[in-house]
Amino acid sequence: MSGRVAVTGANGFIGRNVVRHLHDAGWEVRAIVRPGRGCPLPDGVELAPARFVAADLVRAAAGSEVIVHAAGLTRAATTRQFETANVEVTRQVARAAVELGARLVHVSSQAAAGPGTLERPRSEDDPPCPLTAYGWSKLAAEDAVKTSRHLRWTIVRPALVYGPADRNALALFRLARRGIALQVPGSPTTAYTFVHVDDVARGIEAAATAVAAEREVFFLGHPRSDTADTLADTLERVMGRSCRRVRIPYALLRVAAAVGDVATRCGRPLALDRARLTELMAEGWVCSVEKARDRLGFSARIGLLEGFVATAAWYARQGLLDHQA
Ligand SMILES: NC(=O)c1ccc[n+]([C@@H]2O[C@H](COP(=O)([O-])OP(=O)(O)OC[C@H]3O[C@@H](n4cnc5c(N)ncnc54)[C@H](OP(=O)(O)O)[C@@H]3O)[C@@H](O)[C@H]2O)c1
Repeated sequence: MSGRVAVTGANGFIGRNVVRHLHDAGWEVRAIVRPGRGCPLPDGVELAPARFVAADLVRAAAGSEVIVHAAGLTRAATTRQFETANVEVTRQVARAAVELGARLVHVSSQAAAGPGTLERPRSEDDPPCPLTAYGWSKLAAEDAVKTSRHLRWTIVRPALVYGPADRNALALFRLARRGIALQVPGSPTTAYTFVHVDDVARGIEAAATAVAAEREVFFLGHPRSDTADTLADTLERVMGRSCRRVRIPYALLRVAAAVGDVATRCGRPLALDRARLTELMAEGWVCSVEKARDRLGFSARIGLLEGFVATAAWYARQGLLDHQA
């Protein structure tokens, strides 16, 4: 099925990839961004700048059968900023969806649910336990969606997303190019669920169309979990060189995270801050992907090696691997 869809956050990492995927799949796509924001778009996709208040969003998304809400803040200096961007903005998008009679696919995060391990992957039915202000704001946004009256909604919770246009993993690739694989304290066998952004886009499309998706929450992740060790091995293969495993002492990480907090407050976020450190030190970030498989017919296809090859190629094309890590 395809139809008319509006995508918020269309200039962000996930949003722009969702726009491209849905356009390629035959949807008529409206790309919603904040006024004044640039956004490279495929031919045929309509740019719809809008303030994130319901009335403006209704105008921007008019005629859409589905709204994919991929706008959100992943790094912020204060809890209040997370609340505004993740909770209040979601309320406005939900109101607009109700007004339009559109189905809302809300992009949440595993951060709203909390950690999970190989032995005990986090499932959609587990009581949520976010670890950070970001995670709590994503959970509150989910509640805003679930409690919106007359709203037809589906919530997706992508795991750790990577792929072309992602800046979060860039430092890892740059270091690997110089023969370094950073490892944090804790076990190198701590496991994580990763997911390539193209698979996230496919999962969102499945959530937008499957009848069994309404009023349900789904993790989106690759069925195979990876560890810090397999991550380093994969980076070595992609970069075509061996990498020295460098384990950073916890005390040093704490200092770097504190510096990261200051940088975020100055509007120049670094790869690490205290919230990221809290997440890094968790027992693992494994989630179950069975519900998405059973109810949406969705399984992530792109494994870490293939996905990292594509990501490295994108970084190389943008000239991003040549800079210092
Ligand atoms: N990246 C991941 O690994 C990951 C994993 C799970 C879930 N998610 C979720 O996916 C969503 C998108 O993440 P991303 O990685 O694509 O982030 P991103 O690249 O930073 O993009 C964020 C998008 O949200 C928009 N936005 C931010 N604050 C806004 C506000 N107050 N009002 C309106 N728009 C706002 C940004 O627009 P501007 O350019 O105007 O700021 C941008 O388009 C988020 O909700 C995040 O929680 C991400």
